[in-house]
Amino acid sequence: MPSLETLITENEIIDRIDDLARQIRQDYGDEPIHAIGILKGSTYFLADLTRRLQGEVSIDFVQVSSYGSEKMSSGIVQIVKDLDHSIEGKNVLIVEDIVDTGQTLNHIRELFQLRKPKSLRVVAMLSKPEARRVDTQVEYVGFEIPNRFVVGYGLDHAERYRNLPYVAILHD
Ligand code: IMP
Ligand code: MG
Repeated sequence: MPSLETLITENEIIDRIDDLARQIRQDYGDEPIHAIGILKGSTYFLADLTRRLQGEVSIDFVQVSSYGSEKMSSGIVQIVKDLDHSIEGKNVLIVEDIVDTGQTLNHIRELFQLRKPKSLRVVAMLSKPEARRVDTQVEYVGFEIPNRFVVGYGLDHAERYRNLPYVAILHD
């Protein structure tokens, strides 16, 4: 039977998101922010983060497939659902659940850069620095975590556990 070991509590997540929102708003000044969530893992993070961002904020979503239901990244990234709105001239903030090998993010960054945003930055709730296989730029990181498979707060294993309000290591 798989078991869960809490890694980051709900309170720790909320406190960290408060800090991130303040820092991001400070860096952008009065500029509008166009937050783009990578479905589906980023939904809880995007909702909590944008709710705490002062000033003008719009949101959109993109869905890519790269992981399947297995615990290993395939490195192949495909757009499953594209953005609803043009990002040309906008301050795009990509909102990601976790940066693992970095391949998904690099692909999305390249793709979005071609669409001529005014600026392009990334905020990731979690990052596993030890798992990186490609150089990846991430401007804002919630928590750096060890190279373990985690679930909760949007992250799944075969679509389970996304709704946990905390982040846990999944032991099998
Ligand atoms: P990357 O391309 O290897 O950086 O993979 C990023 C994507 O893999 C994330 O957006 C997640 O959907 C998924 N992923 C990576 N690590 C984990 C994990 O520990 N738990 C759940 N999903 C993960
Ligand atoms: Mg994801």
